[in-house]
Amino acid sequence: MDYKVVVIGSGPGGYVAAIRCAQLGFKTAIIEKYPTLGGTCLNVGCIPSKALLDSSEHFYNAGHTFEEHGIEIAKPKANLAQMIRRKAGVVKANVDGIAFLMKKNKIDVHTGVGSFVDRNTIKIAAADGKEKTITTEKVIIATGSKPTPLPFAPFDKKRIISSTEALELKEIPKHLIVIGGGVIGMELGSVYARIGSKVTVVEFLDNLIPTMDGALGKELQKVAKKLGMDVYLGHKVTAVENKGKEVFLKAEDKTGKQLELKGDYCLVSIGRRPYTEGLGLDKVGIETVKGQIPVDDHLKTKVDNIYAIGDVVRGAMLAHKAEEEGILVAEQLAGQKPHINYNLIPGVVYTWPEVASVGQTEEQLKQAGRAYKVGNFPYKALGRARASMDTDGFVKILADKNTDEILGVHIIGARAADMIAAGVVAMEYRASAEDVSRMSHAHPTYMEAVKEACLAATANRPIHM
Ligand code: FAD
Ligand code: NAI
Repeated sequence: MDYKVVVIGSGPGGYVAAIRCAQLGFKTAIIEKYPTLGGTCLNVGCIPSKALLDSSEHFYNAGHTFEEHGIEIAKPKANLAQMIRRKAGVVKANVDGIAFLMKKNKIDVHTGVGSFVDRNTIKIAAADGKEKTITTEKVIIATGSKPTPLPFAPFDKKRIISSTEALELKEIPKHLIVIGGGVIGMELGSVYARIGSKVTVVEFLDNLIPTMDGALGKELQKVAKKLGMDVYLGHKVTAVENKGKEVFLKAEDKTGKQLELKGDYCLVSIGRRPYTEGLGLDKVGIETVKGQIPVDDHLKTKVDNIYAIGDVVRGAMLAHKAEEEGILVAEQLAGQKPHINYNLIPGVVYTWPEVASVGQTEEQLKQAGRAYKVGNFPYKALGRARASMDTDGFVKILADKNTDEILGVHIIGARAADMIAAGVVAMEYRASAEDVSRMSHAHPTYMEAVKEACLAATANRPIHM
C-alpha cells in the first residue's frame, strides 16, 4: 500500500483528519479537486462570509454609530470591489496556511478528482486530463456539500445565485431577494442590507433560523427590521424567473395570498446537500440515503476500511462538527476511544448582534416532555452593552426543573459567538445554573448576562433586573 490513510476532500473535515492522522504517525495523503485546499469553509463559506460580514459592519457603524460615539467623518461610501479584494486576501492567507500545514505534517497533497477503483485503490483525475492511482489501507471520505437549488429555478449564477456567487458580486444589488431565512440568508442578507441594498427575505417556515430556539429567530427578526430588511415568513415560493437584468419571484402564504417581488438578484439559500458526485461509490458498494453516506457511530461506512465525515454524513453541516469527526476517525484508527458529544456542538449565526446556541431548545424540551425552567437576561440591562451601544438581544438559559442542570444556552447579542464556548464548557461538565451563577464573571462584560440568566433560571433572582 502507498498509504495508511487517504483522505478525499480538503475541507475542515478532511484536512483536520489528515493532520491528526499524520500526528499519529500514519503515512497520509489528501486528495482535493480544486487547486486550493480548505474546502467550502475556507474558499466559499465560513471565512469569506465572515470577512464580508466584518467589512459591512464597519461600514454600517461608520454611518450609524460613529457620530454618537463622537467621531465625525464624511458620509462613508461602500466600495464593494475593495471589500471583495480584501476578502480574497483573507481567503488566500487561510488556504495557504493549510498548504503549509500539509507540508509541515508531511502529508502528500494530490490535486484532482478522487474516485474509487476498489476499496483500497483511488484514481486521481487531474484537470489537465492526467490520471494516476494510489493504494491505501484506510479511506476517509470528506467530500462535503453543495448548495441546494430550487427544483423549478436552478442556479443560473447570474441573477439566481447561491452563496458562492453572493460572495463575489460585482455590484451592490439594488434589491436582493433572499429565499430561505436560515443561516446563509441572514448572514449574507445582512451584509448587503448594511451596504445599501434593499433586502427581502422569503422564508417557508414561521420563524427565521428555524432550527434554533424560537426566541432567537423572533429577536433576529426585530434586528433585521432595524437594518431595513423585509421578512416574509410562512411563504412558499412558487416561481423565480431571470428576466435579464431583473429577477421575478412569486410566493404564496398559507391562505393562498399571493406575493410578487421584483429584484435584481435572488439568493437561494434553502440548505445544502451532501456531495458525492464522481466519487465512484458504486465501485465499493456504498449507496447514499437522501444524498448522505450512511455511517455507524464510529463514522464507518458499510465497507470496513472506509469512513465518512463532515457535511457528507448525517448531522449539522458545520465546520467544527466536521473537524471533530475527522479527529475521531483518526484517533480510532490509532486504537484510541475518542467521543463526540453531538448535543454540545454549538451553532452560530454571525449577524450583528450574533446568535449562538448550544444544547436543547425550548421547543425540543417541550416535545420531549422534560420539566425545565427558563432564565432570561436582556443585554439592555448590562453596563458593558450600554457602553458599546450593543443593547439588542438577551441570554436565555434552560435548566432542568428538578436538578438545575443546564440543558440549553441560547444567546442573541454582541459577541455571542465567542460567549457560547462558556456554555459548552459548563454543559460538558454538567454544571447546574446555580454553579455558573456563583462563579465570578469579570465586570463589565457581556458574559455577565450569562451569570444573570443563570441566576434567573436557578432562583429567579437576577441582580440587575
Ligand atoms: P467541505 O468544506 O465542503 O470540503 C469538501 C471538499 O472536498 C471540497 O474542497 C471539494 O472540492 C472536495 N471534493 C469533493 N469531492 C471530491 C473528489 N471526488 N475528489 C477530490 N476532492 C473532492 N460552518 C461553520 O461552522 N461556521 C461558519 O461560519 C460557516 N459559514 C458558512 C458560510 C457559507 C456561505 C457556507 C456555504 C457554509 C458555511 N459553513 C459554516 C458550513 C461549512 O462550510 C461546512 O460545514 C464545512 O465546510 C464542511 O466541511 P467538510 O470538510 O465536510 O466539506
Ligand atoms: P439553513 O438550513 O440554515 O436554512 C435554510 C432555510 O431555508 C430554512 O429556514 C428553511 O426553512 C428555508 N427553506 C427551505 N426551503 C425553502 C423554500 N422552498 N422557500 C423558502 N424557504 C425555504 O441553510 P442555509 O442557510 O442554506 O445554509 C446551509 C448550511 O450551511 C446550513 O446547514 C448551515 O449549517 C451551514 N452554514 C453555517 C453557517 C454558520 O455556522 N454560521 C453560515 C452559513 C452556512
